[in-house]
Amino acid sequence: MDKLVIHGGTRLKGEVIISGAKNAAVAIIPATLLIDGICTISNIPAISDVKISCKILQELGAKLTWNTPNEVTIDTRNITCANAPIDMTSKFRASYYLIGSLLGRCKSAVVGLPGGCNLGARPIDQHIKGFEALGANVEVSQGKITATAKKLVGTSIYLDMVSVGATINIMLASVLAQGTTIIENAAKEPHIVDVANFLNAMGADIRGAGTDVIKINGVEKLVGNTSYSVVPDQIEAGTFMLAAVATKGDLLIKNCIPEHLDCLTAKILEMGANVEYNDDSIHVFANKRPNKANIKTMPYPGFPTDLQPQIGVCLALANGTSIINEGIWDSRFQYTAELNKMGANITAQGKSAIFEGVKELYGAPVEATDLRAGAALIIAGIVAKGETSITNLVHIDRGYENIEEKFRGIGANIQRVVDEEI
Ligand code: EPU
Repeated sequence: MDKLVIHGGTRLKGEVIISGAKNAAVAIIPATLLIDGICTISNIPAISDVKISCKILQELGAKLTWNTPNEVTIDTRNITCANAPIDMTSKFRASYYLIGSLLGRCKSAVVGLPGGCNLGARPIDQHIKGFEALGANVEVSQGKITATAKKLVGTSIYLDMVSVGATINIMLASVLAQGTTIIENAAKEPHIVDVANFLNAMGADIRGAGTDVIKINGVEKLVGNTSYSVVPDQIEAGTFMLAAVATKGDLLIKNCIPEHLDCLTAKILEMGANVEYNDDSIHVFANKRPNKANIKTMPYPGFPTDLQPQIGVCLALANGTSIINEGIWDSRFQYTAELNKMGANITAQGKSAIFEGVKELYGAPVEATDLRAGAALIIAGIVAKGETSITNLVHIDRGYENIEEKFRGIGANIQRVVDEEI
């Protein structure tokens, strides 16, 4: 098994460039299935979830040409099949976007149940409720979701809870439906706006993305023939902002949209570090131990669950006792057991955790239990005295492009040791 080996005790300093957003890219790539034409997408992060998404598209008959490692031209004129290979779809969560996209295009989709990080129960009942409301018949059996429809007709769909995945999937399924679809209690994350912008650039008529009511006027065809650049990844930007706080560092985080990070900035200021916004970059600098702070994760524009483990590292090192309440996932505190191996003092129970701040962390062998847990452990390893080794990198590679190169570029002593060398 590959591992990351970090020699810690480093104050991070310098500039880092943020990649395109994972959670936008993994929706935009399947969304190209709705286009009867060619489009070019740039600012795509080179991460494994994107690579597998692209492979699935090829299996379905799309032609992909990589112009650079971060730009691809996709020709979806000859889609031959609506059955996504099950072994591939089970490797990542966002494979569920193939259901909305294939249903929209072919009125038929067979997709294996999605995989991804184990964060507790991850039902897709709201996605299914949306597809059924549009007129599809959906069956889940033997590890597969089969959706078919004679035609899709727009309607009003009220989501029982704010769901990123269901909002995007219903948008995908309804873009080519007859009439108007209204999604109420929709999620408002920047990547939802990005997917809507992408579809509109290709000829769709989606209004209200970024608010909690989205209106989709069905169109006959998406023509493509244009290019689109994926929005910067606010979670990656937030990860580096928190790395600056934890290491008492000084980082200029470039190619991001500062306003997407307002809730994190508020917490960083509360923790006693400094944040300056420029047009498309954020400067974060700290010169003292973080203050304690309490966090409750919520849908956007609340504090993102995907930055909870990374801020957890700062709170593990804070001056005083902090509490995190996780508002989205049942099981997002697995990383706390790993941080405790490094000398943290965290008690997690259910969806809450108490962080008794310690002055120092110490290197230890730890495991990336999920994607954001992995990012948190890298930050902890950079702060900690001595050597930390992190295994189970498959999670980290799903969502962060060139992560060790980026951290090395700002002063971290981090190396990837590949299997044969261990
Ligand atoms: N939920 C349901 N039924 C549904 C859908 C969701 O009960 O049909 C519940 C979930 O169990 C959860 C809540 O609603 O408690 C929110 O789930 P959501 O659907 O918003 O999550 P998701 O679409 O599966 C995306 C991101 C996650 C991120 C969440 C929340 C992708 C591919 N994944 O997941 O990202 O944590 O939104 O913001 O976009 C990550 O990047 O590390 C990651 C886990």
